[in-house]
Amino acid sequence: MIALKQRTAALLAERIAAEFPGATLTADELFAMFEYPPDANMGDLALPCFKLSKSLRRAPAMIATALAGAFEGNTLYAKVEAVGGYLNFFFDGAGLAARVTSEVAERGETYGSPMDGVGKTVVLDYSSPNVAKPFHIGHLGTTVIGHSLKLLHKFAGWNCIGINYLGDWGTQFGKLIVAYKKWGSREEIERGGIDSLVALYVKINNAIAEEEGTALADAARAEFHKMELGDEENIALWKWFIEISLAEYEKTYKQLGITFDSYKGESFYTDKMPAQVEKLREMGLLKIDDGASIVDLEAYGMPPCLILKRDGSTLYPTRDIAAAVYRKETYHFDRMIYVTSAQQCLHFQQWFKVVELMGYPWYGELVHVPYGTVSVNGEKLATRTGNVVLLRDLFAQAIEKVKAIMVEKNPALAGRDDIAEQVGVGAVVFHYLSNNRIRDINFVLEDALSFDGNTGPYAQYTYARTCSVLKKYNGTATWRAESATAEEAALAKTIAMFPERVEAALADYEPSVITRYILDLAAAFNRFYHECKILNCEDEITRESRVALTAATNRVLGTALHLICLSTPEQI
Ligand code: ARG
Repeated sequence: MIALKQRTAALLAERIAAEFPGATLTADELFAMFEYPPDANMGDLALPCFKLSKSLRRAPAMIATALAGAFEGNTLYAKVEAVGGYLNFFFDGAGLAARVTSEVAERGETYGSPMDGVGKTVVLDYSSPNVAKPFHIGHLGTTVIGHSLKLLHKFAGWNCIGINYLGDWGTQFGKLIVAYKKWGSREEIERGGIDSLVALYVKINNAIAEEEGTALADAARAEFHKMELGDEENIALWKWFIEISLAEYEKTYKQLGITFDSYKGESFYTDKMPAQVEKLREMGLLKIDDGASIVDLEAYGMPPCLILKRDGSTLYPTRDIAAAVYRKETYHFDRMIYVTSAQQCLHFQQWFKVVELMGYPWYGELVHVPYGTVSVNGEKLATRTGNVVLLRDLFAQAIEKVKAIMVEKNPALAGRDDIAEQVGVGAVVFHYLSNNRIRDINFVLEDALSFDGNTGPYAQYTYARTCSVLKKYNGTATWRAESATAEEAALAKTIAMFPERVEAALADYEPSVITRYILDLAAAFNRFYHECKILNCEDEITRESRVALTAATNRVLGTALHLICLSTPEQI
């Protein structure tokens, strides 16, 4: 609708200049005033004329009537009505369908892209699990919101660097080494993979919490300290633990179609922190508080940012500051996005402020994108009590259930296993990305998997339906009809809305805007599909026009599904 809005605004600006001498309202100002009416009886686009009454010094109703005349005889509009101070525009359905289908055909896979990222680089820090701890449903948010934001930026022309900032350093490795030496064996871990590591980790944490407490905790600290000093045996074990964990994460990433450009985790920044600590000290920003080094942020209404512990060891913010400086020097980003749970909001606010105080001019390019908590079937997750749902298990369960539904609904389907994986994983992702990211959500697998509700399977099924129509038609089609049914017009209008939805998703770092758009588009297509004969239509012009609309839907639905990490199987 952007082009239509621009066109309408230009016509309005001309009319205003003619009717209201001395008034200065630019097409851009008018463009920003448009609204989408809540229901179709009020048109496709509306101009609330009270927004003009101040500069034109007239009552809204009078302005609306005066402007309506500008559109008489213009074939772009079926009608333009002045009602209660609003100017309502009804676009000509056939004209709209002709425009939008040809635009989609021309632009192909770039249709909907604002292309405003060309020449710019964005770094995205997401997923970033802590090695040897379970990769659970709590990581779904950072993983899929992060990747979808990467795809959205790429779509808009940005050069994107996706970084998996692995939690691969810290005292948990000391604990793991103690546990391994005490209870573990190489064969057992080679067999059990990450599950064996997590089991060892849980066992040692329980043991520390119980009677053996301090001795084990001390031993863990000592092993980690050896690691810090470069002890060969411990470093070899550490590398091995990471390798095993990564192999497991990668299986999940593969199911989601996710790859990273860098796996530089926390450990990489060990030797990059001292320079930043020194800079803080030289600038007089460090304060000693009970032996620890902090940056006082009281003036900004925040608790202090911790830089060094009493024993001189570094902390989470210290590492984030060093990593940001390194990434700026390495990638020269124009924007850097961090996707984490909302529990880390204060952490990011604090160290972003410290970067600003350090005089780095790019502090304003740092963006934190938080998301809410996830519970499963109403239960809150807690790693300590073992109440976790692993992503791997969640996906496996979804795939199994989808397979069972497929066996029943489409027993002859070829390649069922692959398709079931795409639909099962897609169902989980789609369900998750249906809500505004900041909302806490309760995950109910049954709801996510329904083929009838507003779900991933329903959206993918609609896509497959468009594929099947196009396959049967087997040729290219152009909209040639001179009039459009209500369903055709509504579908064309929905397709025309895509570029604006992409812009909104990018502006708010909100993939759910795309998810909801997919549901609007699927609904508009299915209404059209049920009300209008496509391939069986007797009139050739109408048939071809409907195929053209189907092809445009196919393209846009496919693009939109990819933007939220879903696959697009051609058959389900
Ligand atoms: N590993 C951290 C966690 O699981 C997330 C890291 C987020 N990224 C960052 N640069 N701090 O909580």
